[in-house]
Amino acid sequence: MSMLIDRIIKDHEHLTRLLVCLDKEIANYKEGASRRPRLSVIIDALDYLHNYPDSFHHPLESRLLAKLRPRITDTELRQKLEVIEDQHVEISQLTNNLIDRFESIKNDQIIPIDALLADYQRYADLQINHLRLENTCMIPAMQKLLTEEDVAAVTNALNDNPDPLFGAHLWDSYEDLYQFVIGTEKELATA
Ligand SMILES: [Fe+2]
Ligand SMILES: [Fe+2]
Repeated sequence: MSMLIDRIIKDHEHLTRLLVCLDKEIANYKEGASRRPRLSVIIDALDYLHNYPDSFHHPLESRLLAKLRPRITDTELRQKLEVIEDQHVEISQLTNNLIDRFESIKNDQIIPIDALLADYQRYADLQINHLRLENTCMIPAMQKLLTEEDVAAVTNALNDNPDPLFGAHLWDSYEDLYQFVIGTEKELATA
């Protein structure tokens, strides 16, 4: 009954991996960095974060949350789920905003890097807080309170969208991004 919830858990593991790698790459914009940031993989990572989590993973969670909401009596938990929904909107806006600005750098426009790094940090912190809140509050509540009928209804309404980076079929356009994740994880493991 919990295949969809297992999917969310798996997505969170993958998202965490990507965010760790992206952080490491963005850190190359800071003074004293040992190498130049690879702008193309940064844009690919943000493009993926827009294409998969924003367009499939978060809407999937929102559909399950809609089923969960009427079953919750605890006010504090209810408020936390509202925060999660607000974060979906904010994450989507910030992802698009960052994509625009890194694309501007690619097009040789002058972008104040300190402001960009500050905004990126706010974004990275929000993503991590969001994952933590979902893992500690939303998923346990879903596992406890959603019925088989709830999950079946969401499954039927869903246009399944396989993960184009960590799923069974890697998209050609994410080949470099996948190699970047594997390479960065190797560097982190030997650091
Ligand atoms: Fe979410
Ligand atoms: Fe999530």
